[in-house]
Amino acid sequence: MEVIIKETYEAISQEAATIIREAILAKPTLVLGLATGATPLGLYGELIRIHRQEGLDFSRVTTFNLDEYLGLPADHPQSYHYFMQENLFRHINISPENVHTPQGTAPDPVAYCDRYEEEIQRAGGIDIQVLGVGSNGHIGFNEPGSSLGSRTRIKTLTRETIEHNARFFSSADQVPRFAITMGVATILESRRCLVLASGREKARAVAAFIEGPITSSVTASALQLHPRVTALLDEAAASRLKLREYYRWVYENKSAAQRWRAT
Ligand code: F6R
Repeated sequence: MEVIIKETYEAISQEAATIIREAILAKPTLVLGLATGATPLGLYGELIRIHRQEGLDFSRVTTFNLDEYLGLPADHPQSYHYFMQENLFRHINISPENVHTPQGTAPDPVAYCDRYEEEIQRAGGIDIQVLGVGSNGHIGFNEPGSSLGSRTRIKTLTRETIEHNARFFSSADQVPRFAITMGVATILESRRCLVLASGREKARAVAAFIEGPITSSVTASALQLHPRVTALLDEAAASRLKLREYYRWVYENKSAAQRWRAT
């Protein structure tokens, strides 16, 4: 895993945006996996800026979001559809038919989850998956205990996640109890993963997923099995990593041959 530690949240957001910009320039039909939550907001702001100022073209880009609350319609202000629309899609020139977010109101959600997997396959698979990490080490809504072989399915949220997300609802009672989420194995099939984490409240989960054992108790730790993961961390999120000085040294001393390919 490539671990990049930057001073600030803004710096990791910019680095992530640069990686995505380079990837779209190299492959205009890039398939992007996207996350919601507070963490990628800086990245989305940067992508909007690059689109406006440099004309980065999203017209042939396809996106797949990781998850959606079960039961929330797309126009609900707390749905992830709405979040993505407000924070990214309506500000860039992406084609609505290329945007995929799990349908929280699908009449047969179980069959729908299988179809979501098929749609990812039909699009040629995900080139870059953007991920945040929960303070319990989850990726997507793959809460502790989720199978590391899991695919897109319905998950029950933990109390901790419900409380964490309650800030977006009028109270914790309003937070849906279930979500549709890509599985850990779905995420691991992406060609590349970009995991972002910011703030001291993520430090324990970050240390666990990067340096701890691979375990379904910390589903992000499955990323250790993936050949191409970049973890972008601010100082606070990196503060519990034992090898953080080594990661810094590696990053500063990369040979040209070791630099990332754009796609
Ligand atoms: C959201 C998602 C979640 C979040 C994680 C961190 O689509 O998949 O795994 O990335 O809960 O959330 P924030 O960024 O709000 O701390």
